[in-house]
Amino acid sequence: MKLGFIGCGGISIAHVEGLEELKKKKLETFELSAVCDIQQEKAENFALEVEKRLGKRPTVYTDYRVMLEKERLNAVSVLINHNLHHIVAEDCFAAGVHVQMQKPLAISPSFGRKIIADAKKYNRVLTLCEPSVLGAENVAIARAVKEGVIGSVYLVMDYATVTLNRGFFAGTPWRHMKGEAGAGWINDHGVHRTHFFTEINGPIDEVFAYTEIFEKELSDGNVTISPTGEDTAVTVFKFKNGGLGHWMCATSAHGERTGGVWIYGNKGCLRPGQHVTLENGKKILMTELIERYASDIVEHPFAHSFVELWEAIAENKIPISSAERGLEALGVVFAALESATIGQPVKVQDIINGKKRAYEDTVIEEMKSLKVNG
Ligand SMILES: NC(=O)c1ccc[n+]([C@@H]2O[C@H](COP(=O)([O-])OP(=O)(O)OC[C@H]3O[C@@H](n4cnc5c(N)ncnc54)[C@H](O)[C@@H]3O)[C@@H](O)[C@H]2O)c1
Repeated sequence: MKLGFIGCGGISIAHVEGLEELKKKKLETFELSAVCDIQQEKAENFALEVEKRLGKRPTVYTDYRVMLEKERLNAVSVLINHNLHHIVAEDCFAAGVHVQMQKPLAISPSFGRKIIADAKKYNRVLTLCEPSVLGAENVAIARAVKEGVIGSVYLVMDYATVTLNRGFFAGTPWRHMKGEAGAGWINDHGVHRTHFFTEINGPIDEVFAYTEIFEKELSDGNVTISPTGEDTAVTVFKFKNGGLGHWMCATSAHGERTGGVWIYGNKGCLRPGQHVTLENGKKILMTELIERYASDIVEHPFAHSFVELWEAIAENKIPISSAERGLEALGVVFAALESATIGQPVKVQDIINGKKRAYEDTVIEEMKSLKVNG
């Protein structure tokens, strides 16, 4: 099947690595036949890199609508700013092309609902590339937890802070503006975490959060912005099954960053990327966990995302990383943002169905003020 990329920025090359793994393993894979970026030089350089790694140079475009018209693509991977996800997705579906969307599914829940509705309307496949639930290790973790390796999960702790020294995350100013990113890092990074939480322990019922913008100005020396997206979020939540969670993320840290996830069950603790420690002191390494629970899954999360896209198109298979689960993850993030806005705990379901949207309205207001054309 023929694949196109829309967006040749920071994360695009990691996707080529995914395709490379599939090729090396001689698994069925897509031919990356066209790439598009509004910055021509970026697209050209990216196409050269693709040729080096995959053996064939894709055709370069600077207008994705022209690419959709000229190329006979089966699917595209959408790799651009969050405020464009729903616009580009609809254009792809209307052109008869299946879509793999990068996380977050959309800039905010109402646009997430729109993307899912548009996929149905045009009868096209929509998958989400959410690496936190894909690839052998993440799948092994989810399967092991669901099988009760650490007993029933009652506490999840997830802490992530980064030091940007008042610069931009991944060199991208747009990530700090809610009209382009949906929120601050709590959306961009947070949605990985909420997707992971709900994958391993089921739906989250209620969320309470405090959020702040501590850094009033960010700059890389050339561009200076006053961020509108939160740089710090401290959140507590409750799963439907009664388990509790404490989750925080911040791009406002100075001097030292931190990162760590602890999943506690009544028989042990699982540390993603590290090991499981059972109550009798026995340790299970990740390699062992993968062997036991996910030997059927490719290693690279992005390679896995293309396997999921392929199987959804060719075999009608429901992906682990589905758009619906992505909307749920986005719902948890926006429940936290809503809670911080109104000063009360918020039910995730009220966000997913659009009943509560005080925070989302501020995102839409800022989106309207941007002169954006997908
Ligand atoms: N681990 C992950 O899953 C992961 C990591 C990083 C980013 N992402 C997601 O991938 C997406 C892109 O992130 P990034 O870090 O690569 O951003 P980026 O800013 O580095 O790249 C975005 C690219 O899109 C291009 N672009 C913008 N508008 C366009 C348009 N209308 N048509 C064609 N190209 C256009 C830009 O010129 C830029 O090169 C986001 O949704 C982000 O959240 C996912």
